[in-house]
Amino acid sequence: MKGKLLRVLRILNYSSEYLITLYNSTKNAIFVLIYLTKESVLKVFFLIFIMSIGSVTTHAQKRNFQLKMKRVKRTFKAIPKSLIDEVKNADLIALGKKLYFEKKLSVNNSISCNSCHQVDNFGVDNEPTSPGHEGKRGGRNSPTTFNAAFHISQFWDGRAKDLAAQAIGPILNPVEMGMPNEAAVISKLSKIKSYVTDFKKAFPGKEKSLTYPNIGMAIAAYEKTLITPSRFDDFLNGDENALTFQEKRGLKKFMGKGCATCHRGVALGGDHYFKIGLVNEYKTKDMGRFEVTKRDGDQKVFKVPSLRNIMKTGPYFHDGSVKTIDAAIELMAHHQLGQKVGPGFIEDVKAFFTSLTTNKKFNK
Ligand code: HEC
Ligand code: HEC
Repeated sequence: MKGKLLRVLRILNYSSEYLITLYNSTKNAIFVLIYLTKESVLKVFFLIFIMSIGSVTTHAQKRNFQLKMKRVKRTFKAIPKSLIDEVKNADLIALGKKLYFEKKLSVNNSISCNSCHQVDNFGVDNEPTSPGHEGKRGGRNSPTTFNAAFHISQFWDGRAKDLAAQAIGPILNPVEMGMPNEAAVISKLSKIKSYVTDFKKAFPGKEKSLTYPNIGMAIAAYEKTLITPSRFDDFLNGDENALTFQEKRGLKKFMGKGCATCHRGVALGGDHYFKIGLVNEYKTKDMGRFEVTKRDGDQKVFKVPSLRNIMKTGPYFHDGSVKTIDAAIELMAHHQLGQKVGPGFIEDVKAFFTSLTTNKKFNK
């Protein structure tokens, strides 16, 4: 009986989602029947029936998921334990952390890196765009500093080649920290005794340790510690129960739809650039990577953002215009893939995204 049912189901190629809906509605209908039936023989029959559908659906679900593990492991990569030797580089990291929280790096001592990239809030400020030292806002959303170390380059348009090159940008950016020039930054820090010692310790044997590029080096070392393992990594490392059934179904849909062609690898993004509006135009004045390369093909091209901790890092997109994750998923399917998605897709992909949220805490 069970074998036959399974065969029928396989032939019809019911999706697992359909099976569950079918199972749940049949189950409810049968419970009503059991309740209404006076004959106890019929009651037993209905109970056996309901149990057999139950085991058939679980079996079908299991089969479904064993199939794709190879592809999952080819598409994504578990996060490594560490990107920097935290013992050997303890002084450098400690200095980087101090600088990351240092409000004196802004012209009026009002903001630090942490104002826009809060480490106790998944590396973001949850603002569409961020207020700088004068409260003025730039045109782009602050991406998270978490896992940025995995990206091929930094910024939405990839204009900084790595974290060290990136970190020295905001200090002089007039809408961000607004310091007038490099010399002013060095002179300000040199007047703080502890920094003179800290830089000497972090860059031993160098004649000049308190230099502008070294500020970037130290901050970058600290940022390399901001990497966030999650349940998805446990899953990739072989713990099949690390994800709930719905989360696995979301993962399957995410891959099946084509999202993982762009959001892949260790950060589920960050490893290449793509145009926003690949299939259906996305209206934005921001020309993205074109501003860096001046190549026509790079208009509206952005670095594919990482999706680690994505449930916590809204609002979304380079312009911060998308308030909810539901809308972000729907817009992605429309603009990048030319597809419509239903509520089932959104709910399941969201469930999968929850498995990308870290439990790791970073303190000040
Ligand atoms: C006023 C808010 C603000 C401050 C202060 C600020 N940032 Fe940012 N940060 C941003 C914005 C906005 C972007 C994106 C800009 C772009 O792509 O053009 C960004 C981008 C980044 C990125 C790139 C991440 C990625 O995915 O590409 C890193 C890393 C980063 N900031 C680190 C820092 C560090 C380190 C400091 C302190 C030295 C700092 N930020 C100060 C707002 C801020
Ligand atoms: C062709 C490549 C491509 C495909 C396919 C794609 N994305 Fe994206 N995704 C991007 C790019 C590029 C961005 C950044 C767009 C921007 O901000 O302008 C992005 C942004 C996002 C964001 C917002 C991230 C943030 O931090 O703001 C989410 C969420 C997202 N994608 C989910 C998905 C989902 C779900 C799918 C499948 C339905 C998908 N993406 C398919 C390239 C892609």
